[in-house]
Amino acid sequence: MNSILLASNRGPVSFTVSEDGVLTMKRGGGGLVSGLSGVAKDQGVLWVCAALSDGDHSAVRQAPGGRLDHAGYKTGALRMLDIAPAVFHRAYNSVANSTLWFVNHLLYDTPNAPHFGTRFQRDWESYRDYNGAFALALAEEAGHGARVMVQDYHLTLTPAMLRAERPDLRIAHFSHTPWAPPEYFSLLPDDVAGEVLEGILGADHAGFLTHRWAGAFMDCCETVLGARVNRADRTITHEGRVTRVGVHALGVDGKALWARAAEPDVESHMAALREQVGERRLIVRIDRTELSKNIVRGLLAYREFLAAHPEWHGRVVHLAFAYPSRHDLPEYREYTASVQRCAQEIEDEYATEDWVPLILNVEDDYPRSLAAYRMADVLLVNPIRDGMNLVAKEGPVLSPRCALVLSREAGAAAELGPHALMVNPYDVSGTAGALHRALVMPEEERARRREGLESAATALPPQKWLAAQLDALA
Ligand code: G6P
Repeated sequence: MNSILLASNRGPVSFTVSEDGVLTMKRGGGGLVSGLSGVAKDQGVLWVCAALSDGDHSAVRQAPGGRLDHAGYKTGALRMLDIAPAVFHRAYNSVANSTLWFVNHLLYDTPNAPHFGTRFQRDWESYRDYNGAFALALAEEAGHGARVMVQDYHLTLTPAMLRAERPDLRIAHFSHTPWAPPEYFSLLPDDVAGEVLEGILGADHAGFLTHRWAGAFMDCCETVLGARVNRADRTITHEGRVTRVGVHALGVDGKALWARAAEPDVESHMAALREQVGERRLIVRIDRTELSKNIVRGLLAYREFLAAHPEWHGRVVHLAFAYPSRHDLPEYREYTASVQRCAQEIEDEYATEDWVPLILNVEDDYPRSLAAYRMADVLLVNPIRDGMNLVAKEGPVLSPRCALVLSREAGAAAELGPHALMVNPYDVSGTAGALHRALVMPEEERARRREGLESAATALPPQKWLAAQLDALA
């Protein structure tokens, strides 16, 4: 039986299976996983996650009780849930990624979407089943009085379900996304909106990345549920139970990041990139190809910058790394295509025989991304809305001279704002102007701001972030 448990959709590792049935294990992706993998292992946490790939499903089926560590994999204590693919697809793609993600990031084109009909009701049933599978596994694995940390929008119902099974447990939920204001959250069918909020209120502690998202959640509880909210104490009372709301601004572990970024594979990517771009200045962006990351407007801003500043032609290169994400959703496939189209237009308009103004790469390559961070003069992070954005925090740690152009809608803006050049993510011309200011920023100012960014970015590394949440449950 375990005394600390962590639950998330994506786990710390994933498996691929070759044609001859051999399983290969690699590290899982995404901000949540990269933040927590190391810490969870150190603290002896049992991690419960879903099997995502075909390889994951094969690995789980061979592991006693779904415990991959018991099957001898060096994963840290890990249980993967073998959820039926149809249930998983509806819960993950239709509800979590196409509905809750869209609501909390304000992504709907409302004249056309969403539509909540019978199909959604079926998907919602699957989301309940999927959350129930996590609650059941956690109830089985948790020792008496154990502390359980449930992560993110995939698992909003699990806390209340788990509490119903195991009232002895101390439960936390953490949202790695923004939270929508009540008037937008209320796009959800009333019963669904209520269930999501009551699901999270099943926890003793509901954590958010910024005060802004925590405030929006409290506003929703008040408006939608009629819950009693005490903003000064950050407590929500609903049906006789009290949930405490906490703000924990996840940051990066500077030392660990540097240790990885100093490895030879990163150095050789740096040499290759240098070969490609020469001594030109670099504007870097690194994202999942994700609607909320606002990559197209970022490219349009670079284009406006080139149009307004011919003096920079031939002297600057934009490295845009947009690695694949959520390609089961048509919106994401279309988005990737428009990113590529926009990049092609810039190339057609500006490329010369000896200057490539933009290098777009849509494949995932972690060491190459680290190389780009180290070489950046300007880092562009312009999401429409973002829970935190760890790219904005990683870049200034690794680059000796980067200036940050940052969207005011990223959670990271709360801490990094004073040291960054802030932009309205919809304002393409404003972003173009900020790119120029970042390039011409005097060295002394650049150094001062970068120092400020680095210390804010490393203020709450994952170890401390986890400890703060465990303390909140003590
Ligand atoms: C965001 C979410 C994470 C998620 C990650 C990658 O950071 O908050 O929970 O894991 O995106 O998305 P994916 O759908 O690939 O897991």
